[in-house]
Amino acid sequence: PEAITIQELANRMSERAVDVIRMLMKQGAMHKITDVIDADTAQLIAEELGHTVKRVAASDVEEGLFDQVDDSTDTETRSPVVTVMGHVDHGKTSLLDALRHANVVSGEAGGITQHIGAYQVSSPETGKKITFIDTPGHAAFTAMRARGAKVTDIVVLVVAADDGVMPQTVEAINHAKAAGVPIIVAINKIDKPDAKPERVRTELLQHEVQVESFGGDVVDVEVSAKNKTNLDKLLEMIALQAEILDLKTNSERPAEGTVIEAKLDRGRGPVATVLVQRGTLRVGDIIVAGAEMGRVRALISDQGETVQEAGPSVPVEVLGFNGPPEAGDRLAVVENEARARQVTSYRAHQKRENAAASISGMRGSLEQMMS
Ligand code: GTP
Ligand code: MG
Repeated sequence: PEAITIQELANRMSERAVDVIRMLMKQGAMHKITDVIDADTAQLIAEELGHTVKRVAASDVEEGLFDQVDDSTDTETRSPVVTVMGHVDHGKTSLLDALRHANVVSGEAGGITQHIGAYQVSSPETGKKITFIDTPGHAAFTAMRARGAKVTDIVVLVVAADDGVMPQTVEAINHAKAAGVPIIVAINKIDKPDAKPERVRTELLQHEVQVESFGGDVVDVEVSAKNKTNLDKLLEMIALQAEILDLKTNSERPAEGTVIEAKLDRGRGPVATVLVQRGTLRVGDIIVAGAEMGRVRALISDQGETVQEAGPSVPVEVLGFNGPPEAGDRLAVVENEARARQVTSYRAHQKRENAAASISGMRGSLEQMMS
């Protein structure tokens, strides 16, 4: 149900809240300033106070920002986006580091590769790229999913061979399944004397993850992040899975993407790591993400280099937001600043009112009313 607080309604009409309350009282309802009333009642009050009401639905403001539904122009192959998940200490970070360092583009010897939370690795076999997202944890993945952000094509599930399936392993399996994302199992720490990879496979079976040697279709690779064993094989399996998924995109359109993480940097201002998913993001583009807007001032690659543009499946640091957006916010390029302001002010309103409505124990989105 659409709803609005009495205070907010009064603000939008530039009326005093007490007059709104008085009007409601005439209709036999007693209210406090913080109460939430439904949109129909609000419209009635606004009209009685002599205002013209224009109810703006979310669909009007958000219209045309994303055309994910229309993928008929997606004809280019794009790199897969992979998220590494698994139980604490099973070696996610070690594996990511090993994969990255085995493949970091040379030429930056001694150079410091900036951590931007996501980066690309080239498969040694094919030279094809794979984008890895280094999520800070399952909570972030859940938050992104809750916002409807779909960033991951494949989950690499890391299970330590000496420890086996643990609570967060199961959580990761459930996340991947709920998101409908295929899993590739990396049985890690295979170098350890007490490694029991076969036990891992059996335990996975108990959670409905059936590896190929057990007659299922989930690929597993025994790896050691420490000794860099089988890393090429893991990359190859990811590339194979990506081929099956037949991932398509269109780089010839305004960019769409998702904010992976964002922060307020002392020197650089708001900085957002964005995964571009469709189109090409360019310096100078006017962007919106959540309730924040800006103009792209600079783009920085996972190699720490300044770039002019970033295409599909490319993670990039974006400078130029007026404020830091939130992880999971969708990014879109809009035609001008007026449009950006319209979208972000609408969303900011909605955010405030959702908060107000939930305080009053009500749920649902709100309509914007203007006098
Ligand atoms: P959290 O981020 O805390 O959840 O841990 P993580 O999954 O990122 O694990 P991390 O990479 O930090 O590794 C945990 C410990 O396992 C470290 O002490 C690593 O050195 C060790 N480790 C990781 N991979 C291997 C491996 O292949 N073999 C051995 N022997 N040790 C490993
Ligand atoms: Mg880690």
